Order: sequence, then C-alpha cells, then structure tokens
Amino acid sequence: MNTTDLNATASRGPAAGAFAADVLAGLALPQKRISSAWLYDQRGSELFEEITRLPEYYPTRTEIGILEAHARDMARPVGAAAVVVEIGSGSSRKTPLLLRALAEPHAYVPLDLAEEFLLDSARALALEFSGLHIVPLVADFTLPFDLPDDLQAPERPRLGFFPGSTIGNLSPFGVVAFLRLMAAALGDGARMLIGTDCTRDPAVLLPAYDDAQGVTAAFNLNLLVRINRELGADFDVDGFAHQARYRADLGRIEMHLVSRRTQRVQLCGRRFDFTPGETIHTENSHKYCRGDFQALAHAAGWLAEDCWSDGQERFCVHRLRLAPGARRGTTH
Ligand code: AVI
Repeated sequence: MNTTDLNATASRGPAAGAFAADVLAGLALPQKRISSAWLYDQRGSELFEEITRLPEYYPTRTEIGILEAHARDMARPVGAAAVVVEIGSGSSRKTPLLLRALAEPHAYVPLDLAEEFLLDSARALALEFSGLHIVPLVADFTLPFDLPDDLQAPERPRLGFFPGSTIGNLSPFGVVAFLRLMAAALGDGARMLIGTDCTRDPAVLLPAYDDAQGVTAAFNLNLLVRINRELGADFDVDGFAHQARYRADLGRIEMHLVSRRTQRVQLCGRRFDFTPGETIHTENSHKYCRGDFQALAHAAGWLAEDCWSDGQERFCVHRLRLAPGARRGTTH
C-alpha cells in the first residue's frame, strides 16, 4: 500500500469534554483519581515507549522473547488472509513478529486513542508490509467499535492482538467487559492473543514502576502537564511526586501522584485542595496469573486455547477462541 494513503478512521473516541468531566469527577472523590487512559497524549505515548526500553521494565522484553520463540505456533490455527486487530497499538514493535508468522495476512487494524502516534506507527509498518491493508482506527478500546465494512466478511479469519499486558490496566470487571466488546467486534470463530503480566514479586515490580532514571515519574507527572495545557488548570507540577505502590491484597501495582505540600488547584472554575501526602491515584496495573486470567476469559465467553510463558512464568501470552454462540449475549 502507498504509505501516504494512511488516514485514521475516526471512531468512538471520547467525546469532547469527556477529559474535563472525568478529571473533575475524579478530583472530587475522597481518594482522588484520574483514569490511566488519559496518560497517553503524544508526550505520554513517547514516554511510555521509553519506559518499555528501560532495564527495570521487564514486561516488554519478556513478552518479545515469548513472541520470538512461539509466534509461529500462536499463528498456526488462525489460517491465511486474516484481519488482525491490534488494541491500543503502541509503537507496533511486536506487531511485525506476529504479522511475519501469519500466512499472508489481509489487513491490519491498529486501534488507539493517540492519533499522531497511531499514524506514525502505521506508516512505519506500511514500509515493511507493502501488500497489507492498514486501516488505523482512532478509538477507545473500552467502548464498542465496529470493523470497517469491507473487513467484515465472515469467512475471513479475525485475530485480536492485545500485547503489552495493557489488559492489566483494567479491573477484573473491566477485563470481562472488554472481552465481551471484542467478541462483538470480531465475531464468531475469532481468536485473540493477549499478553498478561503475572509477576507478583515486589522486588521486581517496584523498580519497574519507579525506575532510576525517572522516566516513569515523568510519564505520571505528564498527566498534570496535560491537564494544565488542555483544561487550563494551574497544577504546580513540581508540587507533586511520583509514587509506585504494590498492593499484594489486590495483585496489582498502583501509580499515585503525591502532593508535596498543602496546595489548591483551580480547574474549570472549581477549586481542589490537597493536604501534604494526599494522592491522586492514576493507574492500576493488575498482575493476572494464568488461571485468574483464563477464568475471566471464560466469564466473557472465550475459550482458553493455549498459553505461552517465559521460564519463570513472569509473563504469559494467551490464545483465546470465541466460544460458538458467545456473541449472542452481547449488546452493541
Ligand atoms: C501500558 N501498561 C501495560 C503499562 C503497565 O505496565 O501497566 C503502563 C505503565 N505504567 C507505568 N509503567 C508502565
């Protein structure tokens, strides 16, 4: 395909005002919180990409190792001329490993909210896979979406690809809801490959989410920069510090922004007060072990078909298949 033909199809991204509404509602809660989805503006996406290359951040290289070793096995039952839908496609670094393993994939649909980042990644991929239809979709993967009409032919194999353990940023309830949406979008007979981080060791997790170079801190604090720029708030970014907290009881690591002092922030005509040490909770990263994740997949109507891991079971790549009739219960 000609790379200059790449245009993102606008889909159901958040409506204008959703960011303001979400931040205003979250800052009014007793435990202030802002959804991690808002971490990914252009700068946030670039910082996350930097995180994936840090020595402390094991998930990316562990998952790439699993894909390098097993992509052929993962792809084998999918068949030829598949439509591959990648969710939250970041830099698409793992995508070539999958596309090369598939038999003549027909189309690649990367879906992300960060439009500029999405298009840059899609352009880079178009250079390597010249015969592939690349159809970027600007969309929020937690909302229902449809594949473009010309990719809906039921005889085409459909494969969802959700690497990076981004599914861990969803609660267990959110995982089931997301997998039901994917069932509705991909249709009967579809498969998914999903990466999950299974690490539960705080000695590994804490440095991974609070690295020595401070890239994760910059990623977290960039949320305040974004709120100032896009919503006209007056956060003093230096008045907050990044913190990673491991919650063994909930099997997740959390990111917080900790107020360094008493301060007041103005946002959309409202005032929000902070006491020293008070936090804004900005991210949950659930570490779903193999069995827990498979149980959630079953609850959403997917069959756990296979699973590949590294030697230490730090990370898993699951292959799921949509159970016949599972879509009937979904609404769209
Ligand atoms: C995108 N997601 C899987 C990352 C994670 O590990 O939860 C985001 C991240 N947050 C801090 N570091 C990386």
